[in-house]
Amino acid sequence: MYAPHGGTLINRLVTGAERDALLAKAANLPAITLNSREMSDLEMIAVGAMSPLCGFMGQADYDNVVANMRLADNTPWPLPIVLATKGDDAAPAAGSEIALKGECGTIYGVMTVSDAWQPDRENELDQCFSGTGAKADHDHPAWGYLSTLGTSYVGGEITVANLPSHEKHNEFRFTPEQTRAAFAEKGWNTIVAFQTRNPIHRAHEYLTKVALEQTDGLLVHPLVGDTKSDDIPSDTRMECYKVLLTKYYPMDRTMLGVYPQAMRYGGPREAILHAVCRQNYGCTHIIIGRDHAGVGSYYGTFDAQSIFDQYGEGELKINTLLFEHAFYCKLTGGMASTKSSPAKNEDKIFLSGTKVREMLTNGERPPVEFSRPEVADILIAAYAKAETANA
Ligand code: ADX
Ligand code: MG
Repeated sequence: MYAPHGGTLINRLVTGAERDALLAKAANLPAITLNSREMSDLEMIAVGAMSPLCGFMGQADYDNVVANMRLADNTPWPLPIVLATKGDDAAPAAGSEIALKGECGTIYGVMTVSDAWQPDRENELDQCFSGTGAKADHDHPAWGYLSTLGTSYVGGEITVANLPSHEKHNEFRFTPEQTRAAFAEKGWNTIVAFQTRNPIHRAHEYLTKVALEQTDGLLVHPLVGDTKSDDIPSDTRMECYKVLLTKYYPMDRTMLGVYPQAMRYGGPREAILHAVCRQNYGCTHIIIGRDHAGVGSYYGTFDAQSIFDQYGEGELKINTLLFEHAFYCKLTGGMASTKSSPAKNEDKIFLSGTKVREMLTNGERPPVEFSRPEVADILIAAYAKAETANA
């Protein structure tokens, strides 16, 4: 296992008397209300999943991240992790303390404000979300999010009294400290992370199985923070993962945990974010396939693989396991890629998450070359239920 990114596992959670004092103080402070993405960032920062971040970024970090994919001190970091004012809220003054509140009114912690500024969001969109496929525009989901924010970002270290409480997936919610302890207990030295926002289809399964041939253990680490409205909801996906793993994976070499981050649809830059955070969870490898964290046709198919070369040797400790586009191959009768099968196009069955969502919407059953039958059953039932609810 490698050290966390930046060297130390951050912990911004306080307990006992320190927590009581923080909450008493926070009750008398002006508050800023966090949206759902900011709440998941607060959780990730508090438990060290975003080490070395100790809070939301100030302007020096933000500017260098947007321009150069590095924090102000030169540490690699690919995307802004920021807290925004809402509506017409005035930005709090530098040096002041503010309470961090959820939309439900609960106080989660306190931030010591380092600075507040009015960012150039068009520049953020363009620099962070353009790929070799296309320049990011207002149809990109990143703009869908950025355009909901107030005018300022507010940076500073945070101290957290309460982690967000979740109704779902709690038995699979592990902090980096817990996953690291679990890997050590299992005796795994090399652990490969699988990031996904989809049900695991045959192509995904193939990547994870090839990876498992090379490593001691696999962490299936589905993202359960906010996703686009047409992505499959995390509770349906979790049902799929549980059934699939139990039947088709060696459970002594596989672990399921949830990754509580919101999806940015940032393609290559988000692949780096996914990798750095998985290093913090104790993973030594991460799978990066085709169009990782992609959306539409903004990114080139393998942009999210080549971007890792922009950092120097050893700047990120975690290793990437890179994959070509995987397909079901009729010629060889199994999953393959062009690296392992000579099949011509007519013998390749390419299916994507987008395609399967279309099939499910039309009431069609994804074929076995695409989805395990047990997974297809869960997806069909979930789509039928959503249809009834919407009728
Ligand atoms: S996402 O976070 O990258 O958006 P997604 O669930 O779509 O999640 O994909 C999970 C991982 O599998 C990513 O690394 C992606 O590149 C890879 N992947 C998905 N489908 C394929 C495929 N057919 N061939 C190769 N890699 C794939
Ligand atoms: Mg994808």
